[in-house]
Amino acid sequence: MIVEKNIKKVKNIVANQKKRGNKICLIPTMGALHEGHTFLIKEALKKSEFVWLSIFVNPTQFNDLNDFKNYPKSIKKDISKIKEISENIFVFNPTSDEIYNNNIVFENFDFGNLDKVMEGNYRPNHFNGVATIVAKLFEIFEPDFTFFGEKDFQQVLIIKHLISKKFPKINLVICNTVREKNGLAISSRNKLLNKKIYKKCGLIYDMLVFAKKHIREKDINKIKEHIINKLNAISSFELEYFEIRDSEFLEKIDILVKKQKIRAFICVKVDGVRLIDNMEL
Ligand code: PAF
Repeated sequence: MIVEKNIKKVKNIVANQKKRGNKICLIPTMGALHEGHTFLIKEALKKSEFVWLSIFVNPTQFNDLNDFKNYPKSIKKDISKIKEISENIFVFNPTSDEIYNNNIVFENFDFGNLDKVMEGNYRPNHFNGVATIVAKLFEIFEPDFTFFGEKDFQQVLIIKHLISKKFPKINLVICNTVREKNGLAISSRNKLLNKKIYKKCGLIYDMLVFAKKHIREKDINKIKEHIINKLNAISSFELEYFEIRDSEFLEKIDILVKKQKIRAFICVKVDGVRLIDNMEL
């Protein structure tokens, strides 16, 4: 298995792989790999023998320094997890200097409404940081396919927008959310939860399922009220948002329009750990 830190070397390896005629797959990650990532790797292996996974905790997408410092890091475990799937995955694990060359700043993008709401509202410039690093990775790899998880649906829309404006040759593959037994969406942040609280987090998923079940028969505001009350009843939960929005531009939905694709989005801070999830309704 190849683990490479240097951009020039990566570009050389990728250029040789392209000469051999096979497609390049890129899975951007921040490490602390879990079953969600495992799923992305397996999907990528269906497309090509050249699957690259980047592991880089990107400083420019964290608006909260503590969040950045506490972000779980486990490169050795990550490498052995990857090896369990295949010895033939290529890993790019650069330093911050290699990526940002001593200039750790994000680029300013115009995403319209997409970065103004929900995560964008609670984490100013988060999506500028995400798009900055993803654009850098796209420039390095020029991949044929890139893989993102639906759990971060707002991020998926940002990447879709970035691809359509700057990287039209890249195919975005959106992979389903992988869940724990209690329904909690698998995330690197789950590792920061204690066992007792972790069990209660199944309620986040239950509330999304509740919204899906009742959206066609109940008033949207009544559904929201029910969900907000249920979540607020748990003392260690701090609900940041529960919103129903359209799946393309993230406009707020007050009244249902036939055939319009809509989603419920949720963010709960559980003992200080931000958990996000969403579901198509
Ligand atoms: O979803 C993530 O892990 C990150 O936001 C990403 C896309 C790897 C960019 O740092």
